[in-house]
Amino acid sequence: MNKKNIVLIGFMGSGKSFVSIRLGKILKREVFSTDSLIEKRTGQKIPVIFKRFGEAYFRKIEKDVVKALSRKRGVILDCGGGVIVDPLNIVRLKKNGTLIYLKASPRFLYQNIKGRKRPLLNAPDPLRTIKKMLGLRKPLYEQSADHIINSERKSIAEICHAIVRLLSHERI
Ligand code: S3P
Repeated sequence: MNKKNIVLIGFMGSGKSFVSIRLGKILKREVFSTDSLIEKRTGQKIPVIFKRFGEAYFRKIEKDVVKALSRKRGVILDCGGGVIVDPLNIVRLKKNGTLIYLKASPRFLYQNIKGRKRPLLNAPDPLRTIKKMLGLRKPLYEQSADHIINSERKSIAEICHAIVRLLSHERI
């Protein structure tokens, strides 16, 4: 299959996982999540990997997983929020993929993430942490993206339709 991969990037809580699953059903394409593959490879849940082995170890496995997934064709990739931090991940993902950034405000992201296990947001003031991290990452998401979709106040179906519409003009 010559089709390009559809690669979803964006901050934690932007809806990448829900959107990728629904999009997979609509377009009848296989879906892969970097986080799920990391958990499968290590046999550990993400918070446990961070706690026991630290972020650097997590990023190393993430980079390996991204490398392997980038070789696929015609699939949907749900990428962990931090993949854009390593430029080599972006080079690899772009080789055979169209990158779509699901954009949202810190307050919206916070509402979505609240109470869920995200080790990097395990801080006294998670909203402040989101604002700080998003401030640093925003330029990376924007530079890496081929398309930007505002995922705020849109249903999963609406986001999927926006993606399908966008990509209908390209050979994906
Ligand atoms: C991370 C995002 C998480 C997961 C890990 C680190 C990040 O994925 O990879 O907790 O650095 O933003 P989601 O974006 O799917 O929550």
